[in-house]
Amino acid sequence: MAHFTKATSVKDWLNQRLAIEKVEKVMASEYWIPKNINFLWAMGMVLAITFGLLLVSGIFLLMYYQPNVETAFDSVNYTIMQEVGYGWLWRHVHAVAASVVFLIIYIHMLTGIYYGSYKKGREMIWISGMLLFVAFSAEAFSGYMLPWGQMSYWAGMVITNLFSAGSLELNGVVEWIRGDYVPGQAFLTRFFMLHVLLVPLAILALIGVHFAALRIPHVNNQDGEDIDFDVEAKKYLAGDTKGSKVIRFANDFMSKDMFVVSIFLVFFFYLVFWNYGFAMDPVNFDPADGLKTPAHIYPEWYFLWSYEILRPFSKDVGLIAFAFAQVIFVLLPFLDRSPNVKTANKRGLFGIWFWLLVIDMIVLTAMGKLPPQGIYSTIGFVAAIGFIGLWVILPFITAIEKKV
Ligand code: HEM
Repeated sequence: MAHFTKATSVKDWLNQRLAIEKVEKVMASEYWIPKNINFLWAMGMVLAITFGLLLVSGIFLLMYYQPNVETAFDSVNYTIMQEVGYGWLWRHVHAVAASVVFLIIYIHMLTGIYYGSYKKGREMIWISGMLLFVAFSAEAFSGYMLPWGQMSYWAGMVITNLFSAGSLELNGVVEWIRGDYVPGQAFLTRFFMLHVLLVPLAILALIGVHFAALRIPHVNNQDGEDIDFDVEAKKYLAGDTKGSKVIRFANDFMSKDMFVVSIFLVFFFYLVFWNYGFAMDPVNFDPADGLKTPAHIYPEWYFLWSYEILRPFSKDVGLIAFAFAQVIFVLLPFLDRSPNVKTANKRGLFGIWFWLLVIDMIVLTAMGKLPPQGIYSTIGFVAAIGFIGLWVILPFITAIEKKV
């Protein structure tokens, strides 16, 4: 057993048992962050705070929500929105955060791609990040089922139908997922469980892995410079804080992070109070009706790009294209074969590839919202082919870059 001495303070008592000073050093005061980064590196913290807002507002909503097909719709649209004091506020916070979190996730992902922050040594940061993206998608989708409105019901129907795997007609799998022939009570209960327990637990665990994956390689910087953190940290600790290329995570970097977080929160609460409409689909203010299919079924804006990759093709090809879109980002560290960690704009062809990908995803998003007719259908088709093509050529263009 370890040797314990008489504690001189509560801190000392805890220190002997939990090594809090050591943990504090490893995770905060001697966790080094490069100076050469910009506000985009605060997006991780913005995400963590937004997830916190989702958790807290979700707990308040849970006090009145009823996971029952007969009462779910009214418990949200009548009880929470009209009867419970400030119920509307928690609902707006939850809905706006659920939408905005995806905007920030996309910015965070694209920042990672632009600066090459997934390269050698940082693969686990990228992979855990992509698993977080998948988990957030599952969280958003399961949450969307809960108000049991028309879009909840029909989006639930369309997405669970995908598991029949096209011509393979695995209808038994679809029924197994739904717990019934069509979305009903069993369906609502299990999506409720996923939304309030299983997926949030997975997200918390994945955030832990994501943070742990950052600790050894440290965050990247704007020039992709391979900083020797031991040398720079020694300089800093010896008093040469100006000459050192790094700063402490706490409190130096945290104070910068919090500045960006504060600006984000002003924007966030502006949306919550004055512009929340974008986060709630009007069709979902009609109760679920299994006999009345809405004229046009579409997902929330953050799923539109992948939905548009599914739509223009025949059933089987569409499913394969959709599955491709869901997994391909995870493979990025292995498809980009150049060890170059410069920004995309300084990497020739890769820079063009990056901006084409961004434009293509914006076009897919816009087309995904429009009815699949005429010119929209054609543009959607071209953009979907473009998306697949971009990923197919990636290993080749980065191999050229490797040779040069
Ligand atoms: C919502 C959950 C997420 C949280 C809370 C989160 C949090 C963080 C934090 C705090 C950092 C360090 C500071 C920064 O660069 O912002 C970071 C870095 C990083 N994250 Fe995430 N992240 C999340 C999702 C994602 C996703 C979806 C990806 C995409 C694959 C991703 C990829 C990365 C990468 C590549 C870095 C390293 C950046 C660098 O080295 O410069 N993260 N994340």
